[in-house]
Amino acid sequence: MREGGMLTEKISRRGLFRNAGKLAVGAAAMAAMTSGGLAFLSKAEAKGGPTEKWPWPYEKLDPGKTAEIAYNEWYRVFCGAAVISSVFGQLREKIGAPYTSFPIDAFVFLEGGISGWGTVCGSNAGANIISNIIIGPRIAESADGMLMGSEIMQWYSETAMPVFTPSEPKIKAAIPKTISNSPLCHISVGRWMKAANKDLMSPERKDRCARVTASVAYHLTELLNQWKDNTYATKGTIPSKSCGITGQHNCTDCHGSNVPAPPLPKSL
Ligand code: HEC
Repeated sequence: MREGGMLTEKISRRGLFRNAGKLAVGAAAMAAMTSGGLAFLSKAEAKGGPTEKWPWPYEKLDPGKTAEIAYNEWYRVFCGAAVISSVFGQLREKIGAPYTSFPIDAFVFLEGGISGWGTVCGSNAGANIISNIIIGPRIAESADGMLMGSEIMQWYSETAMPVFTPSEPKIKAAIPKTISNSPLCHISVGRWMKAANKDLMSPERKDRCARVTASVAYHLTELLNQWKDNTYATKGTIPSKSCGITGQHNCTDCHGSNVPAPPLPKSL
């Protein structure tokens, strides 16, 4: 799959679809492609069952303080649960219920890209859980937890990480920054390990992941605060709506120049 030298190549966002022209289709046809679970919920469906109340209330948080909490919590419950703890832990104090009954530590399984399988980075998963619980279901393009989650993953993929430096870092030496070009744990950690020449169990790799977790918590809090102030305009998109397959936007990162064309819906 991977062509020689692709590993370190910087891939520009969204520019590299072999099928870009072919996939430039009307919104109605694309809506048909999303019917497999990615369509909008109706308002009735979004209300949930009789015992389910969603979305949950939010009060603005300080991004720096949130990031410090996330950094320290990484050393207790790792990436995904640390992001959740940094936001929901504070909301437990500011708001109380229902956050007091949310099982934050249950999400320790997001570690290592879900139970160590290197799939989505836990900090991205944690951010999506938070944005969806607070912003709520897909009832409008302007207020959609999934789009904020998608925006976070795009930002994560194209930013030299980690961006946040804690006030009292456990590792005093400089931590190299890398661009993952992917929201996936395996690729993000792998590219950093290669650049830093540090193994998975090294204190530096752990501190790098703690700082990435804090960076995501910081940016998520910024976006949630904008949303609370009614100034949030999402940059998030759902890749499968334009790509014809679920996936990150930069297809060539894995497929090289030979990106396979997915079968397209019959309506196209
Ligand atoms: C994280 C790596 C990765 C990325 C990014 C990625 N793919 Fe794939 N893709 C794969 C792998 C691995 C397979 C399985 C290939 C196989 O088994 O031969 C695959 C399979 C496919 C297939 C079906 C199998 C085939 O060969 O026809 C299609 C279609 C496809 N990819 C299209 C895309 C498109 C379009 C994008 C960008 C929107 C993309 N992929 C991004 C890794 C990736």
